[in-house]
Amino acid sequence: MEEQKLKELFDSLSIDDKVSQTIQLNGDLFVESGVMTTGPVKDLGFKKEPNFYEIGSIYNVNDYQKLYQIQKDVLTNSSHKIPLLFMSDIIYGFRTIFPIPLAQAGSYDFDLIQQAAEVSAKESYLNGIHVVFSPMLDLVRDPRWGRVMESPGEDVYTSKQFAKSVVNGYQGEKEMYLKENHVAACIKHFAAYGAPESGREYNQVELSNQKLFNEYLQPYQAAVEANCELVMTAFNLLNGVPATGNQWLNQTILRERFGFNGVLVSDYAAIAELETHGFAKDSEDAAKKALLAGVDLDMMTATYANGLPELVKKSEFAKRLDEAVWRILVLKNKLGLFEDPFRGLTQVNTGEILTQEAKDIATQLVEKSCVLLKNKSLLPLKPKSNQKIAVVGPYADSHFTLGFWASVSGKSSDVFTLKAGLLEQFDEEQLFFTRGFNLYESYEQFGPLKAGFEQLNGPIEEESFLLQQAIEQAEAADVILLTIGEQFLESGEGASKTNLQLPEKQIRLIKELAELNKPIIGLLYTGRPLVLTEVEKYFDSLLVVWFPGVMGGKGITNLLTGRANPSARLTMSFPKNEGQIPVYYAQTSTGRPLADSTHSERFVSKYIDAPNEPLFSFGTGLSYATFAGHWQSAKGNEEMIRCSYELKNRSEHDGWITPQIYLLNYSAEIVQPIKRLIATQHFFLKANEQKVMTVEIPKTVFTYFDNQGDLHFDAGEYVLQLDILGKQENLPIKIS
Ligand code: GLC
Repeated sequence: MEEQKLKELFDSLSIDDKVSQTIQLNGDLFVESGVMTTGPVKDLGFKKEPNFYEIGSIYNVNDYQKLYQIQKDVLTNSSHKIPLLFMSDIIYGFRTIFPIPLAQAGSYDFDLIQQAAEVSAKESYLNGIHVVFSPMLDLVRDPRWGRVMESPGEDVYTSKQFAKSVVNGYQGEKEMYLKENHVAACIKHFAAYGAPESGREYNQVELSNQKLFNEYLQPYQAAVEANCELVMTAFNLLNGVPATGNQWLNQTILRERFGFNGVLVSDYAAIAELETHGFAKDSEDAAKKALLAGVDLDMMTATYANGLPELVKKSEFAKRLDEAVWRILVLKNKLGLFEDPFRGLTQVNTGEILTQEAKDIATQLVEKSCVLLKNKSLLPLKPKSNQKIAVVGPYADSHFTLGFWASVSGKSSDVFTLKAGLLEQFDEEQLFFTRGFNLYESYEQFGPLKAGFEQLNGPIEEESFLLQQAIEQAEAADVILLTIGEQFLESGEGASKTNLQLPEKQIRLIKELAELNKPIIGLLYTGRPLVLTEVEKYFDSLLVVWFPGVMGGKGITNLLTGRANPSARLTMSFPKNEGQIPVYYAQTSTGRPLADSTHSERFVSKYIDAPNEPLFSFGTGLSYATFAGHWQSAKGNEEMIRCSYELKNRSEHDGWITPQIYLLNYSAEIVQPIKRLIATQHFFLKANEQKVMTVEIPKTVFTYFDNQGDLHFDAGEYVLQLDILGKQENLPIKIS
């Protein structure tokens, strides 16, 4: 629609019409047939029931027929015929569910990550979704927090690259921007939701401004620079002010400093929760504070509906409401909804969903996201041989390996299980499957879905029987392939933990299997770094498979047999124990560093009961190949440093490799981490192949912010560190 006509439409809206556009409800509140009704919505406390045909958006309806019906009703019954906006929690896939983001980012194949986002966008588009509530870009350094699974991890550079790839994959670029097969990205949660005190869900966040500017805000800023169309507010307090009511954060930083002019949507009930936080004195005050903080959409409460009509009688608030509604209309117009309110819904062709191409991309991403933490010599295994493998553990034929957020639109029945993958490549006589332990203590937690879970996952059996059965099978085998870890509800939202060890029954099984003196390969299914200190020594090989998505079984089997060569690197450190948390690589030196300190043994920065280092640090990852890298040169100009280095594959295995380049910084006005990742590349090298690589590093990597948000650049001597799977080589450089 021409902007002039959009303006005329806007001018025709009454206050009630405008307030209705700021309401967002969960689509499930409408009856099955998709026809609008006031049903359970009444419980939300609307003082005056809004005309549900006039509200601005709904979310988490993913059935294209229902969406078609709802949109049809809106256009039939609403007075201004403003199409409804359909949003959804598509975090890492619609029907083709990919590995969780904490895994994907570790592939460092940002082209492949973008391709996966393009698949998610296409499948969402073909099911009528206009906006997806991702990528989640909360920097995370505390694995007690369950939502680390949906984050790209602890590192700023990695998260920024992930942000750009996913936003561009969703929204499209140039002539495809928001066109067919593309959706708008709503990044979240602004801001710093990933640093809750004590790792406790929804808890307060206290961060200095320099930590915010130099680290926690950077991934969101990268997404804004990639033109993300929406931002979602965070639940948490940030330095004493709730993010959802925080004018400094949302107006001064997000809109003025970062230049974001899209739609700011609250998280679920977060506007009403301003009162619960003790920030707003009542609901009307909550509406006022959120509106002044630039929040355009009220997700799932009646706060705006009840509070704005009175509030906007004052011009200051009327102006804010107009800004909010204008942004919402502009977004609908960018998506072409006025011309085609059934966008995508009339082209639904189930053949376009979960296509072979999509599954191939998912398989590649599994292969590139699983992190090989340990491998004495066992992997790759020998399919089609007389090697007998006891496959122990409930994950092998479990369909519940998609992770917490996949159930919004994914289907467990789509999962290509590990068992299916193994049976494809190994002779059946080689494989002996036993459950080893129950993945769930009971299915009661699944309520009405109990029967379905039991049917797909098998009945709960006596633990001691399962243990004995596993021992017997393992005794007859040459190799034990053991699947361990979390079940998918143990991570995601509302799943903070204080104990990150494996359950006692899994530890017992590992130890009893180890008594057999047979080599054990561990496959760890998890949504977060766990504390593996007690069990790590029992594994000959250990592969973190995270929650690998629908093609997990195929990708993991390809890695086990060497059809694919592991190349992923950890995006988040695995602590030695919970006491180390937060533990992450980008640490500052302290005045008394443990290494080469002038102080005595005792008076240095350390623990007396544990090392400073995590069990597995950020960047850890092994390959079946042996790579080496050596600096060649680094030359600077005004804008950037152009470096070259030699990369060799000194093995008989072809493989992908992600060289990492760190900046080592020794002095600055605001003390910088000892090392910061500033560049990665991603290459395939055939056996015994060697190449000279070049990388251009922008000089902005030598800048940093102070607590006033002012940018500093210090000329001087630095070191670039080339890291090839943990082998490091330094290159001193002088920056002017
Ligand atoms: C949830 C989450 C958010 C999600 C929203 C809608 O509470 O915090 O990430 O997008 O509500 O489901």
